[in-house]
Order: sequence, then C-alpha cells, then structure tokens
Amino acid sequence: RQVLAASGAGAGLLAVGAAGAFAVEARSETAELSSARSDLLDAVPFYGEHQAGITTPAQDRLHFVAFDVITSDRAKLVTMLQDWTSAAVRMTAGLDAGALGAVGGPAQAPPQDTGEALGLPPSQLTLTFGVGASLFRDARGRDRFGLAAKRPAALEDLPHFPGDALRAEISGGDLCVQACAQDPQVAVHAVRNLARIGMGVVSVRYSQLGFGRTSSTSTSQATPRNLMGFKDGTANLKAEETEELDKHLWAAAADGADWMAGGSYLVTRKIRMIVETWDRTSLSEQEAIFGRNKGEGAPLSGKGEFDEPDFGRKGPDGEPLIADEAHIKLAHPTMNGGARLLRRGYNFVDGSDGLGRLDAGLFFMAYQRDPRKQFVPVQRQLARRDILNEYIRHVSSGLFAVPPGVRDAADYWGRGLFA
Ligand code: HEM
Repeated sequence: RQVLAASGAGAGLLAVGAAGAFAVEARSETAELSSARSDLLDAVPFYGEHQAGITTPAQDRLHFVAFDVITSDRAKLVTMLQDWTSAAVRMTAGLDAGALGAVGGPAQAPPQDTGEALGLPPSQLTLTFGVGASLFRDARGRDRFGLAAKRPAALEDLPHFPGDALRAEISGGDLCVQACAQDPQVAVHAVRNLARIGMGVVSVRYSQLGFGRTSSTSTSQATPRNLMGFKDGTANLKAEETEELDKHLWAAAADGADWMAGGSYLVTRKIRMIVETWDRTSLSEQEAIFGRNKGEGAPLSGKGEFDEPDFGRKGPDGEPLIADEAHIKLAHPTMNGGARLLRRGYNFVDGSDGLGRLDAGLFFMAYQRDPRKQFVPVQRQLARRDILNEYIRHVSSGLFAVPPGVRDAADYWGRGLFA
C-alpha cells in the first residue's frame, strides 16, 4: 500500500499543467481504491483472547456448517479438533489446509488440500467454532463423551416459539463452524477441507451459504441492506462498545462454565422471507412494520439513521409514530430487560422453490452472553406480536457454545472442554 501511495505522489511531482494534475488525481484515487481493496485480501489473526469472526467487522460472505459427530471415540474427536485447529491456522493465513486427517491414515486420506483456493489471498477468512447441546447429551439421552458435567446452563435447548416451522434436518448439530470471508471460494474451501479432515469422525449435517452481510459489527462499516431492502444492523452491538461487550457478549467464569470464559453463545435461525408478498406491500406499510424509513434507515420518530427511536412521540393523528408492534420496538432493549445482541447474519438465496418463488431470506446469526436472557425473550416478543411475521418463516434453528479464542500453537478448539 505504501508503495502505491508513493508512486501516486511521484507522479504528482512529474505532472505539468491541468491535464497532468487530473492524471495525478486519477492516479491517487486508483491508489486509494487499491489500498482499500488490499485490506479485504488481508489475513485476520487467528489466535487471541476471543475467537475471530464475532466482533471482526463482518465480511461479505458466509459458509456456515453444522456437523454430527459419528464416532463415540473421544480420543479420535480430540485428535480431529487438533487437526482442524492447525488447518484453520493455515487457511486463515492464506495457506493450504496442511494437516492430513488423522483418521484413515495417509493411504486412504485424500490429498493434503482440495486445491480450489490455491493462489487466493486470505481474504479476511475467519473460522469460528462452536459446540451444540447434543454433544453433551444426544437425542437418546446418552453422554457419549463424558461431558455432561461441563454442559453450560446457558446451552439450554431453545423453546418452541409461535409460528416456528423448523426442519430438523437443517437444525441443531453437535459442532459448527462459521466461515466468513470476502471471497466465497475461500470460505467454501475452508469448510470443505474441515469436512474432509473430519471424515470418519464427523459428517456434515447441513450447511448454508450467505452473501451480503446483513449487519455491521463495527462503527467503521456502513450499514448494509437485507433482502427486504432495509438497512440492517443500525442498532447492533458493535465491536467498539467494549463495556457493553463484556455485559452482553462475552461469557465469564462467574456464569458457571469456566471453559467458556471469553466465549459467547451463537443462535442461528434460517428465516425464509416471502419476498413476493413483501414486494406487493406499499412503502408506508413496509416502513411501519420495521418502525424505520427505508431510504435513510431513520426511526419513524426521527431523521438520522442513528437517532434514538422515541417510542412516545405521536403523529398528528395522536397515534405513536412507531407502532407498538413495529419490529424495532419489540426487539428494543427497553422491551426485553435490557437485552442486546450482536447480530451477524447474511442474506441467502437458495435458488427457487419449484413453485415460482425465490427461496430467499435471512440466515440470522446472533452472538450473546446468555441466550436465556437475550435471544429467547426478544424472539418471544417478536414471535407473538411482530407484524413482520406475516412475511417471514423460521425454518431452522441452532444454538452453539462458542469457546474463547485459541491462544497459541499448543492450544486447540475445545481444549478447555476436553482437557
Ligand atoms: C433491528 C430486520 C429478525 C432482533 C432490525 C432492523 C431491521 C431488522 C431492518 C432495524 C435496523 C437495525 O437496528 O438493525 C430483520 C429481519 C428479520 C429480523 C428482516 C427476519 C427476516 C430478527 C430476529 C431477532 C431480531 C429473529 C432476534 C430475535 C433485532 C434487534 C434489533 C433489530 C435486537 C435492534 C432493535 C433496536 O435496538 O432498535 N431488524 N430482523 N431481528 N432486530 Fe431484526
């Protein structure tokens, strides 16, 4: 980047006259653009106190995968987690997946790496690992890996919510990995290699591709739009709010499970949007549903995107400007005991459904310190009263304990749980 900037300045010194000055300007704009783009190709550090991919400014692409553990051999599972971790270290740095799967041995093992990301930069790839409640106790009530005593109280199955149309085959999972990157090929490559390394120990239960992040997780990012055309992520919990993160995002030892200190809990919900019905709804109705205007993303009680919503403010007809059933009112912390979430969802379009409709929506993902006090009360409010429900359907659900970050080369995903 410095080289590019310097060459822009050099061209400035040589330029003579108006045409030359224009050339300099154009040149330095190109340099700026390249510099902005080069950031998108960089590596995000893998090691740290917390896992990357939570407060990391949300990348543009997602490949989320949930796995079933198909062995009851604890040692094999631990070895695979160690192999996964070393592969994750390498892949997030832009290298190949490296470690061969321990299971099967070299004779039957596939090649070292599947190869489709060869020559591609790291593209801000983050790999975030989590464990589901079924790892501690499976559907038949068995404690397959002797982990029952370590199950955090916060990893309690989510209750049924009114309107849920959940499909079991795309819900739950013993383990999950959230792969986010600026390049979909890089994210897909990472998931594919983890699945390959895990052969014989895990099998893919379901996976989901996502695009166009629907949340900003940092004040450095502009707020993107979801597939309903509204800015999404305005009132999100953001990386810069450090005190709020300790309160609402990071689990602490005092919460009951030592091994989760510095970790977080991830709720995933695949939410199908009935876009055809939505597209026939008038602008004013759409705005009333969210309680924000579509252009700016401002609350209907204010002007700017980041104005605090004023739920008491009334219009000339004496009615509140933000309806009682509006999404932002029901989801607001004041309605839910102060609960906040770090939303990190993605749009999805899985083609069409064979009935002439797009199979599209939001793959909602939210991190929090305790879902019992955060996602559950918020979703209870929304499921009962949100006007948005007419246009959406929750079709899958997942809850995962996302452990703290991997500290160094001797550490691995899940060490605190298995050690
Ligand atoms: C706010 C869209 C589902 C929780 C918003 C906003 C939009 C939006 C446009 C306003 C901008 C913002 O602050 O981000 C959607 C869509 C959904 C959906 C299209 C489904 C397809 C959910 C679910 C939850 C949730 C399932 C949690 C259970 C929130 C929260 C806020 C919010 C906490 C911020 C409220 C505030 O403090 O002002 N959502 N949302 N949303 N949403 Fe959703």
